[in-house]
Amino acid sequence: MKKVNVGIIGLGTIGSGVYKILNQRKSKIKKEYHIEIDIKKCCDISEASRKRLKIPKKNFTKDYNDITSSNEIDIVIELIGGTNVAYAISKEALKNKKNLVTANKALLAHKGRELRKLSTANDVSIGYEASVGGGIPIINSIKDSILVNNITSFWGILNGTCNYILTLMSEGIDFSKSLTMAQKEGFAEADPTLDINGKDTAHKVTVLCQTCFNLNLNVNQIYTQGIEDISSYDIEVAKNLGYEIKLLGISRIINKELDARVHPTLISKESPLANVENEFNAILVNSNNLGPFMGYGYGAGMLPTASAIVADIVRVSSSANNQSNLQPEPKLSLKKFENVKSKFYLRIMIKDIPGNLGKVTSILGKYKINIDKVIQNNISNKLKVIPVIILTKSLELKVLNKALSTMTKSKLIQRGSLIIPVEDFA
Ligand code: HSE
Repeated sequence: MKKVNVGIIGLGTIGSGVYKILNQRKSKIKKEYHIEIDIKKCCDISEASRKRLKIPKKNFTKDYNDITSSNEIDIVIELIGGTNVAYAISKEALKNKKNLVTANKALLAHKGRELRKLSTANDVSIGYEASVGGGIPIINSIKDSILVNNITSFWGILNGTCNYILTLMSEGIDFSKSLTMAQKEGFAEADPTLDINGKDTAHKVTVLCQTCFNLNLNVNQIYTQGIEDISSYDIEVAKNLGYEIKLLGISRIINKELDARVHPTLISKESPLANVENEFNAILVNSNNLGPFMGYGYGAGMLPTASAIVADIVRVSSSANNQSNLQPEPKLSLKKFENVKSKFYLRIMIKDIPGNLGKVTSILGKYKINIDKVIQNNISNKLKVIPVIILTKSLELKVLNKALSTMTKSKLIQRGSLIIPVEDFA
C-alpha cells in the first residue's frame, strides 16, 4: 500500500469540495488504487473554514509554510487563486520536491513555463486538470491525444459565469441580475470582472496553448473582448438569424502563425457548441489523426472542479513522475486579430431619419464590404437613435474598422457600436 500525504492550501469553495470528496472516496481509492491518501494539513487564513469542515485542530494551520516546507507532505494542493501568494507557494512546493496540484489558471498563464521548468528540475509533477473546463477531464485527454496526434485548433466555451449570464439574458433576465446569480452559485471569480472581461478565458486559452502546442503565449497579447457590451437585443437578433452568442476562446495554427483570441462569437445553432448552456463548458479540439473531439461538462462550481482536482491527486500519486521533459517551443508568430478573415455581426446606432441607412451601405460599399443581411427594427418608436444590425460576408476586421471610423467621423453613427465575429469552425 502506497501512502501519500497531502496538504490543502485554501479552503474556499473549491478547497472545501476537495476536502469533502477526498474523505468520501478515501476507502475506494485505497481499494482500487492501493493508495492511502491522508490529508495531513489544511491551511486557510480563517479558522471559520476549519470549524465548518470539522477539521481537527492538529491538521489545521494559518501558515502555508507548514505545508510547503513539511517533510511529511508529498502533494501540495494550491487553491487560493491569484498570482502573488499562489506563486510563492507553488515555487516553494516544487523546490522542496513536492508535487503540485492546482486549479489556478491565472498563475499557469503567467508563470506556467517557469513552474514546469522547476518541476522538471526537481523531478516532481504539476497536475492542473481543474484549471480549464472545471470538472471536464480535458487537459489529460489532450495530453493522451498528443502522443499520437498533432492538434491544429480548438474552440472553447471556457467561462461558466459568462455562459450562465448569456443563457439567462436570452431568457429575459438582465445582465446584472444574472451576474449576481452566478456569484451566488459560486461560479464567478473573487473578482468577477476577470470573468466578464474575458481575461479568465484568455488565461485558459494560454493554458490550453501550453498543453496543445507547447507554446507559452504572453496572455496580454491575446486579443480579448468580454461580454460587457452584449445586450439582450443582440442575443434576440442573433437567434432570429439562426445563431447563438457565446464567449469563445479560439486558437488555431494557420501557416506558421497562431491565431489565438477570446471574444463573443455568433455560432450557428447547428454547431455542437451552440447548445452548451448555463455554467456548462465545452471544448472542441481538432487534430490530424483523431479528427475532432469534444469535452463537455460543468465548467465551474464546487464539486465538479473538486472532482478534477481529486482525480489529479490520484493520478499524480499513482505515477512516479508524469512530467515530460520540456521540449523546445515551435516557432510560431501570433497572428494579429485585425488580419484574421471572418464574417462579422455589426451593430451600429443611427438616427432614425430618411437616407441614413443608405449612407451606411454606401460607406460599406466604398470599402468593398459585402453585406449578407441588414436588420433595422424600431424596437421602440420613441427612440430617435435606433440599432441597425448588419451581417457581413467574410473580410478582414481592419477593413470593417476603417469603414466604422469613416461613419464615426462623418457623425453618421452614435455611440454604441459593436462588432462580433461569426465563427464557422473551419
Ligand atoms: N470563474 C470561472 C468560471 C471558474 O466562471 O468559469 C472556473 O474556472
